[in-house]
Amino acid sequence: MEVRKITVIGTGYVGLVSGTCFAEIGHEVTCCDINEEKISLLRQGNMPIYEPGLKELVHKNVSEKRLYFTSNIAKAIQAADIIYIAVGTPMSQTGEADLTFVKQVAKTIGENLNGYKVIVTKSTVPVGTGRLVASLIRTHSQSSQPFDIVSNPEFLREGVAIQDTMNMERAIIGASSEKAFQIIAEVHKPFNTKIVQTSVETAEMIKYAANAFLATKLSFINDIANICERVGADVTKVSEGIGLDKRIGHQFLQAGVGFGGSCFPKDTAALHHIAKTYGYDFKLIDAVIETNFNQRVFFVEKVEAALGSLQGKIISVLGLSFKPNTDDMRYAPSLDVIPLLREKGAIVKAYDPIAIEEAKKHIGYQCTYFEDLYETIENADACVILTDWSEIKELDLVKVKSLLRKPIIIDGRNLFDLNTMHEHDFMYVSIGRPVVRTKTPIQDAI
Ligand code: UDX
Repeated sequence: MEVRKITVIGTGYVGLVSGTCFAEIGHEVTCCDINEEKISLLRQGNMPIYEPGLKELVHKNVSEKRLYFTSNIAKAIQAADIIYIAVGTPMSQTGEADLTFVKQVAKTIGENLNGYKVIVTKSTVPVGTGRLVASLIRTHSQSSQPFDIVSNPEFLREGVAIQDTMNMERAIIGASSEKAFQIIAEVHKPFNTKIVQTSVETAEMIKYAANAFLATKLSFINDIANICERVGADVTKVSEGIGLDKRIGHQFLQAGVGFGGSCFPKDTAALHHIAKTYGYDFKLIDAVIETNFNQRVFFVEKVEAALGSLQGKIISVLGLSFKPNTDDMRYAPSLDVIPLLREKGAIVKAYDPIAIEEAKKHIGYQCTYFEDLYETIENADACVILTDWSEIKELDLVKVKSLLRKPIIIDGRNLFDLNTMHEHDFMYVSIGRPVVRTKTPIQDAI
């Protein structure tokens, strides 16, 4: 394998994990960022994000002298054979992906182009951005140095990001030349993955289509769950039953409080915007987005119904991050559910094993935070489950019952078996399944 000098611009989830994994397979990698604080944190061996296994892999590759961190982006560009753009493309007010950072990076690459380089976009960007990047590089380049552009979208999941990168399911490589395709395909060889060669535009579209499809699957099963509640069916069994059909598959059929995270909400909104820009009315994606938001609203209505009224009630919210094994709070259900509970007069006690510091930045002091699971539950009128952390899955139900003022659990992740909850004599409201009631009706409850 030819060792390449790879520069990764942007040390967010995608940049940091990809850069570290490229170093791990033997390349010489420089990860850079304009945020000097982040770079100095990384140089001291601290991670700006919580991701299992990342810290150890960064330390290993830094000590083996394959991984470097710098805020001197110009120098890192000049030294590279391959430049990965992995900066953020947040959702703008209109739902469109905000390309400010991508454009800034393209300009800096142009200004520092000093020989043939392959410029790869990893950030999720609207179709046509590859061409825009190329034209910005050309405009800002003094010389007429040759370069190629590649779209190589990222499919890693937070919480299992290292595993997803080292055992990549597929690599989509949309290159502007056969030479650039061969270079990036060669870089991916050690990942032993299936490579799909496409045009730049097709690769850009694949990323949106993949995330939109998965989001559609989730909103579909959440809609089915809402119907199950009305007709007395059990959505977990419906998922099992339909998932056995290989064409449907079991994954992404777990009904819940709706999807969150850094990709699905942003990418579905961006795809809606792309379709609209090109004059296409993509009704399906609009419905996916609407169902997802409604799922949070319906959930809070269930909490209210279970307690009669939320005025002055103490609610213990378990799980703040958008999913387990991450402290990422972007578009987490808790960001909608906690303010809605508060609007209805509830007092919120919140628990998360990792994400409290991040949560404070988003939710502020709309709730009190607890690092101890059972302290959060103590004296609450009901328990509300929002994230399927293993600590929450393994709750000691006897202890929970003794600590709660009323034995009520409203579970947005379907963590518990209905019979178990019946045996423990809880009122248990979950998603798309029949409500379990206590043997003696609880005062005020439905
Ligand atoms: C996702 C994609 O999976 C990944 O390929 C892409 O690169 C980025 O977006 P991620 O956001 O890390 O990854 O999380 P993922 O594990 O896919 O979950 C997304 C959301 O769907 C979470 O809010 C999760 O709670 C929810 N979900 C997932 C369900 O509600 N039910 C399921 O069955 C699966």
